[in-house]
Amino acid sequence: MIKEELININQEAEKEIESSNDLKTLNEIRIKIFGKSGSITILSKGMRDLSNDDRPIIGALINEVRSNLENKLKQKEEFFKNQELLNKLENEKVDITEPSKDCEIGALHPIARVIDKLTDICVELGFSVVEGPEVETDYYNFEAMNIPKNHPSRDMQDTFFISENILLRSQTSAVQAREMEVRKPPFKIICPGKTYRNENDSTHSPIFHQLEGLVVDEKISMADLKAMLTIIMKKLFGEDTTIRFRPSFFPFTEPSIEVDVSCPNCHGRGCSTCKGTGMLELLGAGIVNPKVLEISGIDSKKYSGFAFGFGLDRTAMILNDINNIRYFYKNDVRFLKQMK
Ligand code: PHE
Repeated sequence: MIKEELININQEAEKEIESSNDLKTLNEIRIKIFGKSGSITILSKGMRDLSNDDRPIIGALINEVRSNLENKLKQKEEFFKNQELLNKLENEKVDITEPSKDCEIGALHPIARVIDKLTDICVELGFSVVEGPEVETDYYNFEAMNIPKNHPSRDMQDTFFISENILLRSQTSAVQAREMEVRKPPFKIICPGKTYRNENDSTHSPIFHQLEGLVVDEKISMADLKAMLTIIMKKLFGEDTTIRFRPSFFPFTEPSIEVDVSCPNCHGRGCSTCKGTGMLELLGAGIVNPKVLEISGIDSKKYSGFAFGFGLDRTAMILNDINNIRYFYKNDVRFLKQMK
């Protein structure tokens, strides 16, 4: 009897396992067989009522059926799990042949490029690169540059003051003063960096960039300045570039000059970049005022020097044919893309 019942249970269960179609039904089948009141559990419990002769035979049979069904359940369970994995792989399939989205490659900002280019040129000519603070004291920005408090020459630079003696540097010349205090001549330095003035139109921005150069040695003259600037300009704008000196005034240089370069766009013939003049105003320069050397503790009887200050925004505008300085500070991606 029990034997037939077992064979029956085995057959039924095998069929059910075979035709089950998910893990949930499989679990229900498992409970039906092996759960608390499952068919095999009940049969096992009934073993104690069997005779001593039958018990081992039926026991062995129950074990056989149990391990057979457990195996079948396990196999089917693995089958479902495999199936699930395959489905997942199928659904999450990545088409590696699909064309990728364009990857945006960045580029250096035009001002950064000019700084790099000019710095490379000057380093090749023996200059060391130095930097100074953008938030500067009145002393280094003005007084050490021979611009005393309340002197009319302060009006040349509409300065952002933070307090009476602290300001946003209006010129990289402030770095000259700092360096002259600590360096012993001879020395050649350049200082590129941000500068600030209360100016705002198509060619002036409240934040702009300068590159200051300073050479201090014995017997430095205007001829050295002219030669140096000619070399730098030719390297920057091309071999056929010429330069022109015009007398000017800066409190920290004497004599002072403004330097024009032949327009790299039309080579001096006249075009819209140079407003028909063939020349472009590019920098202030001069022989360092002996007073400035003395303020910083350099013997002006023994040493002299020249200094020049580039407007880098203007240089970048010329090199890239840009007519409005504001493009540099708007971070308009369309503009930056064109500058690549
Ligand atoms: N500091 C001057 C300016 O910002 C430029 C300059 C630098 C002139 C060095 C002479 C020498 O206008």
